[in-house]
Amino acid sequence: MGQIPTLVTDRLILRPFTLDDAPAVKELAGEWEIAETTANIPHPYEEGMAEEWISTHQEAFDKEEAVTFAITLKPDGVLIGAIGIHINKTNRLAEMGYWIGKPYWNQGHCTEATKEVLRYVFEALGLNRAQARHMTKNPASGRVMHKVGMKYEGTLRQSVFRWGKFEDAAIYSILRDEYGLVSVHSR
Ligand SMILES: CC(C)(COP(=O)(O)OP(=O)(O)OC[C@H]1O[C@@H](n2cnc3c(N)ncnc32)[C@H](O)[C@@H]1OP(=O)(O)O)[C@@H](O)C(=O)NCCC(=O)NCCS
Repeated sequence: MGQIPTLVTDRLILRPFTLDDAPAVKELAGEWEIAETTANIPHPYEEGMAEEWISTHQEAFDKEEAVTFAITLKPDGVLIGAIGIHINKTNRLAEMGYWIGKPYWNQGHCTEATKEVLRYVFEALGLNRAQARHMTKNPASGRVMHKVGMKYEGTLRQSVFRWGKFEDAAIYSILRDEYGLVSVHSR
């Protein structure tokens, strides 16, 4: 597939991570409030974990399994978070995940990044469905999904076991034709 692309929005540049981002990832993703409501971010976030994670991105992209973007601010290139998709080629769908560093919350950054990744999912990758899940104890993430036009489909009861507790997870999705593109059945 080549290189992970760079996507540009009004305020953000979504670009591939490099190993130089590792210290910022460790600092931002190392906050408990990021690990608490995400499925896979470790806590404590130890030395070397960011480098290890970043090192998986290109191979996952080459295998058409996942695409991960660093979310950076346009004026100065500061890293503020991450957004990514896992691709299920068989079913032509993408599952999204994201986090934004705490100092940057509630400024619309995640919504702006998610809209752009949806465009990438439908226009560039030609997939049929984008979905995302959030723990019901994390309404801010549900708000992002709602704001980008995703529809609430239901709650998967106790579908996540995290930090010693079962959590309910709400699932949202948007389909290609809801996004305004014709469904592709034959490819
Ligand atoms: C979820 C998260 C990515 C949102 O990022 P963000 O850049 O702050 O998101 P946005 O600013 O685009 O939108 C957040 C929305 O949630 C709302 N919100 C914030 N806290 C809320 C709460 N406790 N209850 C309800 N809504 C809340 C905000 O007001 C905003 O909505 P609005 O624009 O209608 O006012 C960020 O909080 C985060 O990284 N959390 C920890 C990691 C995580 O949970 N990732 C998602 C896993 S599914």
